[in-house]
Amino acid sequence: MRKKIVAGNWKMNNDINQTETLIDELLAKKPEHTNAKIVIAPSFVNLQAAVAKTHGTDIIVAAQNMHQAESGAYTGEVSVGMLKSLKVNTVILGHSERRAYFGETNELLAKKVDTALSHNLTVIFCFGEELADRQSGNHFNLVESQLREGLFHISEANWSSVVLAYEPVWAIGTGETASPEQAQEMHAFIRNLISEAVSPAVAQNVSILYGGSVKPDNAAEIFGKPDVDGGLIGGAALKANDFLEIVKGIA
Ligand code: 13P
Repeated sequence: MRKKIVAGNWKMNNDINQTETLIDELLAKKPEHTNAKIVIAPSFVNLQAAVAKTHGTDIIVAAQNMHQAESGAYTGEVSVGMLKSLKVNTVILGHSERRAYFGETNELLAKKVDTALSHNLTVIFCFGEELADRQSGNHFNLVESQLREGLFHISEANWSSVVLAYEPVWAIGTGETASPEQAQEMHAFIRNLISEAVSPAVAQNVSILYGGSVKPDNAAEIFGKPDVDGGLIGGAALKANDFLEIVKGIA
């Protein structure tokens, strides 16, 4: 059975006090059993506090990014070893905001993926088309090239440390979500692509999350689609009640 996952990407939100308050709220309100694994990704500076707060719980703390080099003269950057030393073992890579605002290319992401996997991190690998790609009918090609160039070079064994997150850029932060049918269509395309390019077993076992304006009122319908294994949540992950409602959308 594929893992069901609901991950909150907090982006550049929440100072240390807000981070601790939100985690306290999540822990207080979370049911003892959830059908999805819960992941939260606070900013780098608040990771240590988040790991301490969630210690002994089933909430997983992830970083939103990391540098591809092991260490060195890269002012302002954060290495895989730094994350591991905080007991952060999951990292989001390739978010569309990293691609769009910080020039992250498929080629660069392939290096980040390698560094993360070589240190046994779990990678939540994000990709997705822009509105122009969808309008021109190029969305399948675009997604395929993001996956082939950024990820498909890894060994078959390493796929067990990968979670995919399909996030159409036009649906991020816009309130305009992909329809459940659009999400399912793309997720099925991705699974089929992996089946052909990697192996049917990997395709069956890899979790594919949907991200882009997932809210309490649309989560269950999107998560109900057979190839959607959960979500990567932005804005709605900043409110404990909304996030936990979304988690409940996993049947
Ligand atoms: P929103 O849920 O705010 O649209 O953001 C989605 C996202 O980018 C998660 O990584």
